[in-house]
Amino acid sequence: MKPKVVRRYDKKIVVPEGGVIDSGESPGRKIRMPGMEHMVERVLISRGCLSKRIRTLAREIVRDYRRAESIQAIAILKGAAIFSADLIRTIFDLNGPPMGIDFIRASSYRAETESSGKVEILDALTDNIAGKDVLIIEDIIDTGLTLNDIKNYILRHQGVKSLRICSLLDKPSRRKQPIEIDYIGFEVPNYFVAGYGTDYAEHFRNLPFVVVLKPSILEGKS
Ligand code: IMP
Ligand code: MG
Repeated sequence: MKPKVVRRYDKKIVVPEGGVIDSGESPGRKIRMPGMEHMVERVLISRGCLSKRIRTLAREIVRDYRRAESIQAIAILKGAAIFSADLIRTIFDLNGPPMGIDFIRASSYRAETESSGKVEILDALTDNIAGKDVLIIEDIIDTGLTLNDIKNYILRHQGVKSLRICSLLDKPSRRKQPIEIDYIGFEVPNYFVAGYGTDYAEHFRNLPFVVVLKPSILEGKS
């Protein structure tokens, strides 16, 4: 398959069905994961595309927070662990303001691919974020239920100075609750994706790229 051209509109990158792949990488490349290869359909967003996009997001964040004393990042575990680690270091490389980093662990998915619609805060914040300029970092926004709950939880418990949201991936076609996202890495089609922090039943988080899983796996027909 030939690499597809990345389309940009209003600061968004919309991933076409075929994916966004750097030259030199192949969407059909074999993923070496013993016992798991059969679950993966293809690479959707390559490693190079991820790192280029993260640099652009970091540049926008540094620009928007240039007057802030610091940025209080809140990464949503487990999915945003990998993305947030790369993003905050890139913000440093681009001479961003000092950063604090805290985590919230929330769960709505469990081992399923459909959101239960009920979000549970499993591990809460430990830092005092009152008066801070907060940046929530998320892996993927699907129905919007998780992030809306987390946002309300933060606003209810802490008097923050400002609150912005950065998500690596966005699946707007599945939205059930509207949510304003300030920084979006890639808008993706309605696929179940995994890799670069996102999982399917706790697998694939360690892939350095994003893949599409085979629909037959998700229907339990493997
Ligand atoms: P939402 O509440 O439906 O927006 O779900 C958000 C959470 O579900 C994300 O933070 C992910 O952890 C998970 N999720 C949603 N879509 C996918 C996917 O395609 N692959 C892996 N995880 C997903
Ligand atoms: Mg998540």
